[in-house]
Amino acid sequence: MISQKFNESTLLRCRYLTSKDQFHAYLKAKRESRNQENNQDDVREEDPSSNDQTEPPAKQMKLDGGDQVRKQGSQEEVVKEEEKKPQEQKRARGQNKSRPCMKPNHYEKDRLCQSVIQECAEKCYFGSQCRFLHDVGEYMAAKPSDLGDSCVLFKTFGKCIYGVTCRFARAHLGEDYRNIINEDLVKQWEGKPLVRNSLSKELQQRLRKKKVCFDKSSEYLRHLGKPSSTGNAGNKAAGNSMGEKGMTNCTASKGNAEGVDVLPPGEEAPECLAVSEKGEAPESMVLQSSCLADASKDSTLKTIGPVTDEDVIKLRLCEKKRLAIQGKLYLAPLTTCGNLPFRRICKRFGADVTCGEMAVCTNLLQGQSSEWALLKRHYTEDLFGVQLEGAFPDTMTRCAELLNQTIEMDFVDINVGCPIDLVYKKGGGCALMNRSNKFEQIVRGMNSVLDVPLTVKIRTGVQEKVNLAHKVIPNIRRWGASMVTLHGRSREQRYTKVADWEYIAECAKLASPMPLFGNGDILSYEDANRAMQTGVSGIMIARGALIKPWIFTEVKEQRHWDISSNERFDILKDFTNYGLEHWGSDTQGVEKTRKFMLEWLSFLCRYIPAGLLEYLPQKINERPPYYMGRDYLETLMASQNVDDWIKIR
Ligand SMILES: Cc1cc2nc3c(=O)[nH]c(=O)nc-3n(C[C@H](O)[C@H](O)[C@H](O)COP(=O)(O)O)c2cc1C
Ligand SMILES: [Zn+2]
Ligand SMILES: [Zn+2]
Repeated sequence: MISQKFNESTLLRCRYLTSKDQFHAYLKAKRESRNQENNQDDVREEDPSSNDQTEPPAKQMKLDGGDQVRKQGSQEEVVKEEEKKPQEQKRARGQNKSRPCMKPNHYEKDRLCQSVIQECAEKCYFGSQCRFLHDVGEYMAAKPSDLGDSCVLFKTFGKCIYGVTCRFARAHLGEDYRNIINEDLVKQWEGKPLVRNSLSKELQQRLRKKKVCFDKSSEYLRHLGKPSSTGNAGNKAAGNSMGEKGMTNCTASKGNAEGVDVLPPGEEAPECLAVSEKGEAPESMVLQSSCLADASKDSTLKTIGPVTDEDVIKLRLCEKKRLAIQGKLYLAPLTTCGNLPFRRICKRFGADVTCGEMAVCTNLLQGQSSEWALLKRHYTEDLFGVQLEGAFPDTMTRCAELLNQTIEMDFVDINVGCPIDLVYKKGGGCALMNRSNKFEQIVRGMNSVLDVPLTVKIRTGVQEKVNLAHKVIPNIRRWGASMVTLHGRSREQRYTKVADWEYIAECAKLASPMPLFGNGDILSYEDANRAMQTGVSGIMIARGALIKPWIFTEVKEQRHWDISSNERFDILKDFTNYGLEHWGSDTQGVEKTRKFMLEWLSFLCRYIPAGLLEYLPQKINERPPYYMGRDYLETLMASQNVDDWIKIR
């Protein structure tokens, strides 16, 4: 056996190894010499990522005077500013809790009113009360200089909706700050939605006013309280989260005899979800609702005695599309990092299945825009699921019904692997593995209202030495889920131990014929092959994709890709463009793009170029020693230091 220490020192070819001090000294020297070159060439004005970016005089005055206003071009400052702030995240996300929470607020000042940006004929609704600027000239004088000459939105789509507020606006501003439009290009994109699953204002209003009706959920939830002849989902312990904010039960409008939540007098009955925003049912919905209506007629004819949740589920299951997922490469749901621009990158490298970031069901039910943003789907995501988190059958079932009628997805996944305290303590995530009753009610309930397959993501268990997955999996299958993904670690373990693939293999057998995807520690095609040999139906890759998104190509082509630093830089450029497209090319969008890029770089820097390794492949749990890359960019990309990442260009 080779000792761990020996192993580590031989991981990289000797000639690339260096010490921490030498590594940082090299980068520092490089940085200084580059800064000097820049000064001599006097290119600072053109330099988008320079820390001492020149600002227009009006802006500079404010910078000097105001302590709140920060230079918009400096992400270094944004990071530092945010590091000082208390962590005010509404919920801890993923494993990456120590990352700075960045919520820049300086762009609130000197913002241009939407009425001006949109160039709408109507006057600003808020009149003299409006806190935003209405004079474009005044706005432009205070606006920091552009970050580049080319606007990706204008270049790609022929129109930049951010107009004068775009940080690349000179690419599309004409006389008097008129926003130039390339009509030909605009036409090419007409009628081709790039991103789906947006929350309409109208639905948001209905959700906020609790004017959305959840017929199917109500039917299911009504049965939960009754004794059930089959299964044990219906019982007295069917407690729910009715007390949770933002929830209502619309059954009252249908003459509910059970006295659940009666609408206050004068309150209109909520509209039914099956009716589209415009009041007409789209084709797919017509098909589905008529099919369901027939099915329920059938059930009233044939069923003797009370309709149980089991009956409802059977009706739905027979209509469900099958999830064709065997042998596919599944990019894991990844809070924060698994954003739409990142998923586009992974799709290009060969990921087959993608999933939105975990969304909290109660937030979706309240119509929170930020939560709905997690459901967005790029048109290149051809096998796409959304992941939900929740602890109670009522909210989870309603949420599933809501999404079933309003967004396009191929499956819905329940996150029963989430380890974070905030979720766990409320009984959600991993905690559901120990709450069999609630777990069953959630799976059956969601399944009964969904037309698409329902999948469940679990861990080995909660405690390190107490495996639960093998007990839970046959139940999940019986309750009607279409697939399970098993992350081979317990909640307690987090990432401290290697994933237990022997146990995953055992569980895959138990799950059959229900497909089981294995998840944990895959960073190379060899890892992927070993994983597939355990008998799983497919594999899910999380950190491996964050560290090297081209892993999907490597697995499909069964090779190691000794990718160059320039090729890696191109990936970052693509991410930037996708980010500006997704989050916007105004200051807010630019900062979001930066924030998410920095989050991602904290993983990307862990990649060790294949050409530098003594033995291939790199292992996910190996801590790389300090090493020098084959060029400056490669070394920069290996740094763990945020200050170095922002020099990548
Ligand atoms: C940054 C980050 C965010 C994550 N977010 C989620 C999430 O939203 N939902 C989820 O089910 N798992 C999440 N996970 C867990 C992964 O999906 C995966 O189960 C885990 O990382 C193990 O796979 P790996 O060894 O390939 O990384 C997250 C993991 C990371 C590193
Ligand atoms: Zn205004
Ligand atoms: Zn633009």
